[in-house]
Amino acid sequence: MQDRTPRPEDLEPIERAGVDELRAVQLERLRWSLRHAYDNVPHYRRAFEAADVHPDDCRELADLARFPFTGKAELRENYPFGMFAVPRERIARLHASSGTTGRPTVVGYTREDLRTWARLMARSIRASGGRPGDRVHVAYGYGLFTGGLGAHYGAEELGCTVIPVSGGMTERQVMLIRDFEPEIIMVTPSYLLAIVDEMQRQGIDPRTTSLQVGIFGAEPWTEDMRREMEQRLDLHAVDIYGLSEVMGPGVANECVETKDGLHLWEDHFYPEIIDPVTGAVLPDGERGELVLTSLTKEAMPVVRYRTRDLTRLLPGTARPMRRIEKIAGRTDDMMIVRGVNIFPTQIEELILRTPELSPHFQCVLGRQGRMDTLTVKVERRPGVAVDAAERAGEALVGLVKNTIGVSVSVEVIAPDGVERSMGKMRRIVDQRPAV
Ligand code: DLL
Repeated sequence: MQDRTPRPEDLEPIERAGVDELRAVQLERLRWSLRHAYDNVPHYRRAFEAADVHPDDCRELADLARFPFTGKAELRENYPFGMFAVPRERIARLHASSGTTGRPTVVGYTREDLRTWARLMARSIRASGGRPGDRVHVAYGYGLFTGGLGAHYGAEELGCTVIPVSGGMTERQVMLIRDFEPEIIMVTPSYLLAIVDEMQRQGIDPRTTSLQVGIFGAEPWTEDMRREMEQRLDLHAVDIYGLSEVMGPGVANECVETKDGLHLWEDHFYPEIIDPVTGAVLPDGERGELVLTSLTKEAMPVVRYRTRDLTRLLPGTARPMRRIEKIAGRTDDMMIVRGVNIFPTQIEELILRTPELSPHFQCVLGRQGRMDTLTVKVERRPGVAVDAAERAGEALVGLVKNTIGVSVSVEVIAPDGVERSMGKMRRIVDQRPAV
């Protein structure tokens, strides 16, 4: 693998700023953001008043803990434009979350917000090892989803050549990678695996492509998955995090030289970790739910937005800004089987330690009597004999029992048996009868 570490002189000054300077910038911006939300969004004015706080009460960063949380419910109640803090004509673009259940959540950006986003995405791509002049194959979906356009404008901002492929048409993805020779691919990790399978089907060795860096996000993936992808493709696999409500991709990104968690771009977002049950703010290092407050967003400021993503805050390494640990899962994705909490990422880790099994899997929840059951449906790797894969499946049952402490069933299925997704993979299939 090529060394892709950016040169220090290529970083923005704030990326290298000391913690004291950063905290001062954050406090000034936080006070502006709270005031902006309070003055211009009726929801925030009401919510602050109900909590008996005023933007002027924020004198230090820790005072933020006195302000109320915002969740998806508040965004839905104010559908579509009720959370906007600027007049409609200043909104330059809308995006929306997929909204698999109920109303989607709508987010808006001013021109300045779009510029900030492009700069933060450029910063993220550079941290991942991208450089001006690189060709960037964008296979995140274009459209209301923030992945495609977010990656697109960030790559342009950095001075790259953008190849705006979007998701889908996997054969064509492979052709374009072969013919246009991109150095960088931006895609969900699960769709990357589908592209790699297609390469192999066409007899192309994925290690021989032009790709040097993969910037993978929009869904959780594990260190074992990183090893799998780096080994199969001979590239740097780097994690990118973000969510539409807070901006889109580019809220946090790993640095290629350390790959040790994602530096959160703290000059634009203030992170807290809370206990998801009590809402109490937890000290750095403890695991909990990530809560984000925007510091510079004009069109749609968010105050203490509950992401539902579980992680912890760690000190800076490659950059002084703090890191979040790779996201373990969402509070909504926690499965409770016989009283034990499990996330699909834990299953992914164990599958990837079983060479006969492929990383294409789903967790099917069922019910037997009063008990929830979990069946892991996992494909055997192409070329592995059925009986060897069956034995590996039985071994996986034991592995899950010994490491996570819960009894699950494993169903080993043929390659291509799990439906491929072009974007975010649906890891949990809930077949429990409604009660
Ligand atoms: O997924 C934005 C994005 C696009 C991020 C492309 C990275 C790359 P939403 O559709 O609003 O936005 O979904 C946000 O996806 O709250 C997490 O649960 C999950 N997620 C995003 N990135 C990661 C990641 C985009 N690197 C939700 N690891 C978030 C784990 C992630 N989960």
